[in-house]
Amino acid sequence: MRVILCENYDEMSEKAAGMFAAQITLKPESVLGLATGSTPVGMYKRLIEMNKSGTVDFSGVTTFNLDEYYPIKRDNNQSYFTFMKDNLFSHINIDLKKTHIPNGETKNPVKECEQYEKMIRQAGGVDLQILGIGQNGHIGFNEPDASLNSFTHLTSLTDSTIKANARFFESANEVPKQAITMGIATIMSAKKIILLASGASKSRVVAELLNDGINTSIPATLLKTHPDVVLICDKDAYLGAKLGVDIGGTNIKFAVVEGENVKYKACVDTPKTTDEIIDTIVKETKKLKKEYKIKAIGIGTPGVISGGTVTATNLPFKDLALDVEVAQRTDLPTNMDNDANCAALGEVIFGNTTDCDNIVLVTLGTGVGGGVIVNRQIMASNKSAGEIGHIIIDMKDGRECACGEKGCWEQYASISAFVKDAVHAANANPDSVLNKIYEREGRLSGRLIFEALNEKCPVAEEVFDQYLEYLAVGIKSIAMAFGPDAIVLAGGITKEGDKLIKPLRKKLPKDLRIEVSTLQSDAGSLGAAML
Ligand code: PGA
Repeated sequence: MRVILCENYDEMSEKAAGMFAAQITLKPESVLGLATGSTPVGMYKRLIEMNKSGTVDFSGVTTFNLDEYYPIKRDNNQSYFTFMKDNLFSHINIDLKKTHIPNGETKNPVKECEQYEKMIRQAGGVDLQILGIGQNGHIGFNEPDASLNSFTHLTSLTDSTIKANARFFESANEVPKQAITMGIATIMSAKKIILLASGASKSRVVAELLNDGINTSIPATLLKTHPDVVLICDKDAYLGAKLGVDIGGTNIKFAVVEGENVKYKACVDTPKTTDEIIDTIVKETKKLKKEYKIKAIGIGTPGVISGGTVTATNLPFKDLALDVEVAQRTDLPTNMDNDANCAALGEVIFGNTTDCDNIVLVTLGTGVGGGVIVNRQIMASNKSAGEIGHIIIDMKDGRECACGEKGCWEQYASISAFVKDAVHAANANPDSVLNKIYEREGRLSGRLIFEALNEKCPVAEEVFDQYLEYLAVGIKSIAMAFGPDAIVLAGGITKEGDKLIKPLRKKLPKDLRIEVSTLQSDAGSLGAAML
């Protein structure tokens, strides 16, 4: 893939229009594949000017558009039919009979797709295909994990695409849920492809394009196998600073990331009310915008995110569209996800598992949290997916969990559980070193239990060994369920390093890679920046 890096959107549009016009000049009867969306609008504007000034003549060309919503009336303002008319066709000397857009009004989409594919073939195939790229890496409406070998077909839009395109409609509810799209195989059969990317919201996906490898969860990466693709992108898509915000019960962490370089980190106390929390984020963003070219915000928040809103138990968030509120007040595209998911994303991008595609992060703290990364992306979670602390490991006499179930893993493998078990053992063994420490301090903690272990206290050793058994049983289940390349452990206790990890490894399969987080509490803000 050849890359042309432009200073800004206008330069990108100018370069693309130049190559497009050159194709028509070389072959006036070219078959052109056209795209919609906000990205190619500037290129179309430039082509209109060139047509008006006589530099390019569209009278011989045939066009095929990539896609169309389904169902949608042609005269709907948001149909791609209307888009093409408004943004290009009614301003140039093109023969409308030779322009083709999938028919969003058809009663028989399967037949429409077959015919569309046939017409492209009959026209001799596409000479030059223009493509935009979705924030999720889609091309056309070939969404992540699209079948690689598909031709023109009817497809369902992902939630992220519906959300990204909602800006053109009154609300997300009005975005059609399906579309007819050229398939990846159709696109790949074009002789030449120009891929356009503009703005910081595309920087993550552009970074994936420039990295090695092909990944079906980022369909655009398949273009790397095409012999003639040019990526024309502006600097913001290539490099724009992103602000990551990790909201915790005690503090809010901020991180500014440029490309994959961490430029700034800060931490402030978490205020009490929702308004104050939003104010703090907005104020910090405005301050940082003066220093960095911040183009997007990602927020990691505790709680359950569902239907675009967050509800948290340890923060005053109830059905809060936090990302929308922050976006409105900062004028920056803002995404949010669960904080544990963000931390897992941070680990795979910035931590010591950057060589992995699939990891599970296990955070051992008051509870057991975690996030699952599949193909270097957060596993699409609805409600409680990724809540690994609530895997049930004891069905019979399981310990009660705040979630209402019994026997959840976090009741055995969290630091709180470890300490509780140690207190129990100390009380039962008054002469033990563990109990002496307990009496001296009036409490126990992970660190104090390790103090007893350092003194070879057999009671502490027994508690620790049992704790490792609990930890291992959950880790083995996770490994069986997800088959990750690595499991990353984080949380205060993991700072004990080899003292924890070496005996733990003995209880786990040999080929299971276990890593201790090198980012620890920074993972959340760094991962949020990459949302
Ligand atoms: P956009 O869309 O140009 O509006 O960003 C591109 C796409 O989704 O393919």
